[in-house]
Amino acid sequence: MNKYRTHNCGQLRLDDVSSSVTLSGWVDIVREFGALTFVDLRDRYGITQLVFDSQKDVEIFNTARKLGREFVIQATGTVRERTNKNPNRETGEIEIEVDSLNILNISKTPPFTITDVTDGGDDLRMKYRFLDLRRSPVQNNLFFRSRVALEVRKYLSDLDFVEVETPFLIKSTPEGARDFVVPSRLNPGQFYALPQSPQTFKQLLMVSGFDKYFQIVKCFRDEDLRADRQPEFTQIDCEMSFVTQDEILDTFEGLTVHLFNEVLGIHLDTFPRMTYDDAMAYYGVDKPDLRFDMKIQNLNQLKGHGFSVFDSSEFVGGLILETGGESFSNKDINELTEWVKRPQIGAAGLAYIKFNVDGSIKSSIGKFYSDEFLQNLKNDFSLKDGDIFFILSGETEKTLRQLGELRLELGNRFGLRDPKVFKPLWVIDFPLLEWDDTTQRFYAMHHPFTSPKKDDIHKMSDTDLNVLKSLRADAYDLVLNGVEIGGGSIRIFDRDLQARNFNLLGFTPEKAEEQFGFLMSAFEYGAPPHGGIAFGFDRLCSVMNGQNSIRDFIAFPKNNQGKDMMIDAPASIEQDQLKELAIKLDS
Ligand code: AMO
Repeated sequence: MNKYRTHNCGQLRLDDVSSSVTLSGWVDIVREFGALTFVDLRDRYGITQLVFDSQKDVEIFNTARKLGREFVIQATGTVRERTNKNPNRETGEIEIEVDSLNILNISKTPPFTITDVTDGGDDLRMKYRFLDLRRSPVQNNLFFRSRVALEVRKYLSDLDFVEVETPFLIKSTPEGARDFVVPSRLNPGQFYALPQSPQTFKQLLMVSGFDKYFQIVKCFRDEDLRADRQPEFTQIDCEMSFVTQDEILDTFEGLTVHLFNEVLGIHLDTFPRMTYDDAMAYYGVDKPDLRFDMKIQNLNQLKGHGFSVFDSSEFVGGLILETGGESFSNKDINELTEWVKRPQIGAAGLAYIKFNVDGSIKSSIGKFYSDEFLQNLKNDFSLKDGDIFFILSGETEKTLRQLGELRLELGNRFGLRDPKVFKPLWVIDFPLLEWDDTTQRFYAMHHPFTSPKKDDIHKMSDTDLNVLKSLRADAYDLVLNGVEIGGGSIRIFDRDLQARNFNLLGFTPEKAEEQFGFLMSAFEYGAPPHGGIAFGFDRLCSVMNGQNSIRDFIAFPKNNQGKDMMIDAPASIEQDQLKELAIKLDS
């Protein structure tokens, strides 16, 4: 028998009445009622009420009254039916009449209450994360994460995927985000880098014949942090040989469906597929939130009517807000106008055409258009009374992006983004290359190992920037409710094609050899056609729970400055340590 407990704190029910039991856990709260003292005893599994009766044993009763919050205790007693039942608690029909109490450890008063809704601010909770992790909403997130991981392993193992660990101390590469680097003591002046992903290793495993690989693995990226980005995060990283893009999408759509089914009991229908070009044209973003429609409408027909802002714009586009006849006041419109003018969005202003319920039309640009023109517009776009057209104009790409942001904002304001509704989407046919104006060079849109579409390979020899920009790749993202959950591609597996791609990305042959010679050399020893994908595991967990922040699904996350407030990292190191690592810091 266990020394500390016969049951846990979430286990006992009416059926157990009259049994003698021993429980151990943390003191949640002590309540005194004259001759009786009640203690809520908490552990991972639940809360059980203990009763101490002064009439029965005054010594134990007095000890109980002195218990502080978060003391660790062990109590033995008899289960009895409660007179005052608590229907909100699984153990709410019983209590334990205690006849033996053992204090296993005392506790200082915690800096915030260990309750579902706590009074602790963010910083305090981060500093005392071990206490925050005692709260059930936080614990539940991690239990959820653990279940998802288990189901991932089940699903992929059933499909013959094999889990292989790849190294964390690897070589720094100039592509992608910044690397975290680690000095090598044995090789003074030289550095390892922590992997941004196991990309090249999983490809090498395909060359080695593993056929189907997966790994639930930490990745490290030194980039600016946001609610859905951490410097160390976890991927469900996968690779398959002898596959087409369709087979990869089917396999990982299957995984997603399986996870929703098993963990949430939610059935997802077949995922739609949308090209990158369509996503950008209709949603102004490569990760559309399909929980609501509101596509971007091309309104170039508004050009040429004397409104100089539109006339001088490359693109005029709009969004239709269906208000259902509800009033959308001037104040609301002004607020929205200020919102699009914020530097983060960067629009010069917001035009609107409002088709009032009484049939009249109100518009900020009304004087440039006849009533007849506006009525025709209403018909062309099948607008109803009460609908409003919000319009932005300017350079095409920028305006589409701004409309995309405005669309999400309208979605938020009108409650169109229900966190309990799930709308997955595959975005496919990403461009191979992304032009950077500042450095005047191409970067890989996904990564340098991504294969161009077969029909586009000939464009790689073109010198025209626009032709190169139009090169499509066999690259895809899984998007869920407007969040990029995963991304992957079919890979190049031919040395010459890989060399041509590096060349487009501005690598000299020597540099390519120095950085990625090991992979190019592997391609000379019978590399199979292969491709894969990686899911952001933390993101998947948070989106499945309808939450934005991945921090709540990571046991020990960093804050927005990349700091761990609890262990106080990063921190300086001793001079001796620096010396040993041959590192000189400018003082
Ligand atoms: P990618 O860079 O698209 O692809 O990353 C895959 C997924 O990882 C998640 N993700 C992050 N999550 C939290 N914090 C971050 N800082 C962070 N960065 C990325 C996203 C993203 O979709 N090797 C390729 C995959 C492949 O080609 O197979 C890769 O890493 O959800």
